[in-house]
Amino acid sequence: MCSIIGYLGLSTAAPIIVKGLKRMEYRGYDSVGVATFSNNQILVKKGVGNVLEVNKNEKLDELSGTVGIGHTRWATHGEVTNTNAHPHPSSSGEIAIVHNGIIENHEELKKELQQKGYEFKSQTDSEVIANLLQYHYDKVKEIKKALLNTVSELKGNYAFVAVFEDGTLTAARLHEPLIIGIGKDGYFISSDVLGFVEHTDEVIYLDNREFVIINSSGIKIFDFEANPVQHQITKVSKEFADAYKGEYAHFTIKEISEQPTTIPNTANNTRLELDLATDFIKHAKTLYITGSGTSYNAALIAKFLFSKYAKIKIEPIISSEVQFSPDIFEQQSILIALSQSGESADVIEAVTIAKNSGVKIISIVNMMTSSLVQISSIAIGLNCGPEIGVAATKSFTSQLAVLYKMVDKICGGCINLDLSKVSESIQKILSDHSNIQEIARKLKDVSDIYVLGRGIHYPIASEASLKLKELTYIHAEGLPGGELKHGPLALMDSNTYVIMINPNDSTYSDTLTSAREIKVRGAKIIGISDKPSEVYDHWIEIPQVDESVYPFIEIVPVQLLAYYAAIEKDTDPDYPRNLAKSVTVK
Ligand code: AGP
Repeated sequence: MCSIIGYLGLSTAAPIIVKGLKRMEYRGYDSVGVATFSNNQILVKKGVGNVLEVNKNEKLDELSGTVGIGHTRWATHGEVTNTNAHPHPSSSGEIAIVHNGIIENHEELKKELQQKGYEFKSQTDSEVIANLLQYHYDKVKEIKKALLNTVSELKGNYAFVAVFEDGTLTAARLHEPLIIGIGKDGYFISSDVLGFVEHTDEVIYLDNREFVIINSSGIKIFDFEANPVQHQITKVSKEFADAYKGEYAHFTIKEISEQPTTIPNTANNTRLELDLATDFIKHAKTLYITGSGTSYNAALIAKFLFSKYAKIKIEPIISSEVQFSPDIFEQQSILIALSQSGESADVIEAVTIAKNSGVKIISIVNMMTSSLVQISSIAIGLNCGPEIGVAATKSFTSQLAVLYKMVDKICGGCINLDLSKVSESIQKILSDHSNIQEIARKLKDVSDIYVLGRGIHYPIASEASLKLKELTYIHAEGLPGGELKHGPLALMDSNTYVIMINPNDSTYSDTLTSAREIKVRGAKIIGISDKPSEVYDHWIEIPQVDESVYPFIEIVPVQLLAYYAAIEKDTDPDYPRNLAKSVTVK
């Protein structure tokens, strides 16, 4: 969840590190810090807030030295305080570390180290790495041995970068991402290529259970058994250059606006894999589909698509729930795993459990360098470019596009899928935001929003409510329209807004009936439909499209509504409070 970065080279490290942290802020952003090695000592500055705030107050980028490490935090162990912010120096201050992940045995290790006289200041699990490294370094006075002894004692999932008192930069990785950038005048180590992509496109993907030692004489990589490891240098795709806001005020609105291009581009990079996957699916005994958050909402859409068009049953399971029904998976089955990041811990765990039961994995992923891709039999790329806004937007419609393409292939083209027409319709919605902006103003002081949809529009209602929660912090709930009278109707009053996902299809008249039942209880109705009705207090018109592809069309206005309501409420739409883009902890 957190982002970590290290630099060793000819340039001053701190400004490079601060810039890299800003680019990786989507991974966690409650506190920030930098440590550099300068004049034979380690200097640390840190604070609570986002990168710009902390840098303004603490002048992180003014630290001297050509070696340094940095961190943006998403708190897991210990509150959001200055002391808990990274980097954490060892008790003697000769080593400082930044860490992403969770050290499961930190309490035992901390006790042991305290008994040996090592002092702790923070409530974090991470500080134990600094003192454990220091302890082993004090004993053996050799960095490689100190690292080996340290990783052999740490339990959990982690990636850490450490700077030593002699200016050596080191890092180790176990189930959390760590990528090395080889620049012309320096080395980078980072959780994400975005941390250094403006400096170099030559990278080494460190494998699990490997560590690296970088100093003025070069770079050496070893596995956790102390064997030297040789890695190919790979060039990262140019698409990473898109990770700039350009003319847009926020990444979120940029990414919403990119959908007319990203939807038809979906999976173009992995056409063969798509063909292979559909073949696998046709012969599977049972089909499961999993994901978290938005990706799970896409999985729910898949359930409707597969049963209606491909006549195949598919069972959606929330990734974090799989561990509680591990016996669910049958042999010779397939699990489709949906994930934008490919790093969600819950998804990885679900996939691991399924694999242990002999299930084959087809993943649908945006980040093709991710852990999920590595553990899948087939990986299909969303190909929608980096998604930086924490709220998933374009990745959701690209996930839908892959699922639609799959189902259309399986049923021999029965959907008659034309994604370029879908794009044109979305472009129409995007060409004028004024009505949606106007409605967003009305939501500013609202405390509850319900989103209703029936059939395939219910998962869209769930996704819509997720967007509203994340971006506006307004309580929002997605409901199947028919459930209203079984309870939620009790909540309707004049302070409530209800969004009806109501395209002109077989669900139309039942959803309109629900709208009338709500209206007479005084709640305000926002209708998202291609057909007007007097029952709507506000009508967001969507273009008429083929009935099968409404889900693509109806989510876009809600993405815009949530974005503009966030602007009205003066919240940061790119980095909602308490959240992070890739949730790599359980
Ligand atoms: C979506 O807006 C959320 N930020 C979140 O629910 C997200 O979809 C979820 O954490 C899954 O992420 P993944 O697709 O990268 O696995």
